[in-house]
Amino acid sequence: MDLKINDQFYSSQAEPSDMLLWVIRDELGLTGTKFGCGAGICGACTIHVDGVAMRSCVTPAAAAEGKAITTVEGLATTQDDSERLHPVQEAFIEAQVPQCAWCMNGQMMTALAFLQANPKPSDDEITAAMGNNYCRCGCYVRIKVAVARAAELMEQANG
Ligand code: FES
Ligand code: FES
Repeated sequence: MDLKINDQFYSSQAEPSDMLLWVIRDELGLTGTKFGCGAGICGACTIHVDGVAMRSCVTPAAAAEGKAITTVEGLATTQDDSERLHPVQEAFIEAQVPQCAWCMNGQMMTALAFLQANPKPSDDEITAAMGNNYCRCGCYVRIKVAVARAAELMEQANG
């Protein structure tokens, strides 16, 4: 099947029932999407399908056929031959969020989908939106700081 990931088309040998996480990581080599629980619980494997945050470990490839998949590799852009990080990435770096960093790409993908739907969230809304993404290092306070900062940076970027 053909999969559109980060605005590029990939020809995949995956069966329709294969989970997207393994197609993306093992077959296509986009290893920014992480394996945590494999059961749809932790959020480490979060990607976007048509802009909606999905847990790729429990999402079959067939569910994304003909749709636009975005992984963390698709967040940064290139301008004038240099890479420009997405405001969400900038905010997570600025807040020095990660410890081991394993959960971070899923955290950022969840945050981005949330902020695209709710550009000016309250603290309580951030807490609720991020509450189902686990961080075994316990970086929850800094994650919330980073999401609030990302909202500011995205607003600035959007003029
Ligand atoms: S690895 Fe997919 S939700 Fe944990
Ligand atoms: S930074 Fe280690 S699991 Fe979140």
